[in-house]
Amino acid sequence: MSEQVAERSDMWSSSFIFVLAAAGSAVGLGNIWKFPYIAGENGGGAFVLVYLICIAVIGIPVMASEIMLGKLGRASPIQALLNLARTHKRSTGWSCVGYMGVLTGFLILSFYAVVAGWVCYYILRLFSGEFSGADASAVGEAFGDFLADPLQVLLWFSVFMVITIFFVARGVTRGLELCVRYSMPAVFVLLLILIGYGVHAGGFVESVGFLFTPDFSALTPQAILIALGHAFFTLSLGMGAIMAYGAYVPDEVSVGTTTFTIAILDTVLALLAGVAIFAIVFANGLAPDAGPGLLFETVPVAFGNLPGGALFGGLFFLLVALAALTSAISISEPAIAYFSERGKLSRAQIAVVIGAVCWVIGVGSVLSFNVWADVKLPFFDWTFFDSIDKITQLILLPLGGLLIAVIVGHVLPKHVVYEELGLMQTQTQQVWTYIVGYVTPAAVFCVFIIEAIREVLAHI
Ligand code: TRP
Repeated sequence: MSEQVAERSDMWSSSFIFVLAAAGSAVGLGNIWKFPYIAGENGGGAFVLVYLICIAVIGIPVMASEIMLGKLGRASPIQALLNLARTHKRSTGWSCVGYMGVLTGFLILSFYAVVAGWVCYYILRLFSGEFSGADASAVGEAFGDFLADPLQVLLWFSVFMVITIFFVARGVTRGLELCVRYSMPAVFVLLLILIGYGVHAGGFVESVGFLFTPDFSALTPQAILIALGHAFFTLSLGMGAIMAYGAYVPDEVSVGTTTFTIAILDTVLALLAGVAIFAIVFANGLAPDAGPGLLFETVPVAFGNLPGGALFGGLFFLLVALAALTSAISISEPAIAYFSERGKLSRAQIAVVIGAVCWVIGVGSVLSFNVWADVKLPFFDWTFFDSIDKITQLILLPLGGLLIAVIVGHVLPKHVVYEELGLMQTQTQQVWTYIVGYVTPAAVFCVFIIEAIREVLAHI
């Protein structure tokens, strides 16, 4: 047996470790960096409500589908889909979903590592005590100065990329478990401390009001697409990451229970991060729609004004970096698993090649905040960073998710799916088929169509 096969077949030793790994993939920059700033840009409450509905109606069924496909196909997403198609005499064309996922993974990792690089730099910045007693405008300016320096951003992006490749090359199990088991509860506690700061400084009530009082007049059609895309992004769905992890799941693991556990953990963490960050925003009279810099312009203000802030602030960014690392590892897994199966290169060699490709694409995102700040995609007015972010989140992930739901709802034989999910009664079987086969694809499709019409109307 080759080393790779041995490593794969004993990958998750229990259902608990699988949940940890999948939660480690789900909880990351999407929760702590992205969710707060997109909620802020899209008006708060109504956006949050749509996001929660997307998690429930679309995210949960797609996650169950991905875990199931991985478990049934027992290989990289591409190979798993090929295996299933051959076993059940279906078209092997469905494996295109796997190829699309590998491509999407390269694109996501390229910009994800850039933002994770910002986080790495902020670990040192906070530990150094630079922000002690700093006010919001000084902290905002410090972030602007950092982004304006391409070499500095490139350096930290490269540091994060090298660390990721190191862990990916070694094989994921050990480091991953250690990271997730301790870092997630610790992030939780530090977010509670930040909320405590908000309560003390007076931003808490306003923050909760902003995030949980829906004002539908602030909800644009594009915000609905962003919420949908984010539901995929935050749960790591639509490109095969969870499917790749599902391939290593022991047989006795229940798809339903693990799906709910992961989705609930991920959502609670995002909401906590949102409450904490907007408490700081309102306590300091900042604007909620500051964009991608929001995390870096708020959290240092709070820690700068708390006793022991340099230590806890540094620790906070360290934990966010660990959360980003466990996510980044999972983004590369579909590609790593696929190329490992082909057997030509070792896992380490593949990891280096993948890292190099992502690094090259990522340079475009590094430059988007300085040298290329004015280079925009025609019509959309997106920088390189925006383009990669939006094309993956608004198109590729939802499309991948839609196709995954169609495969499970319509392509695979129903009895195979029911058996895997342990659905015995006709009624529950019907509910499942209805949701995954019709509601989920139709919801994604409608949002796509509405958005496409809106774009066309906006440009004629
Ligand atoms: N879910 C992670 C986050 O919220 C990011 C992530 C990991 C991801 N794996 C993914 C996003 C696969 C899309 C697809 O930070």
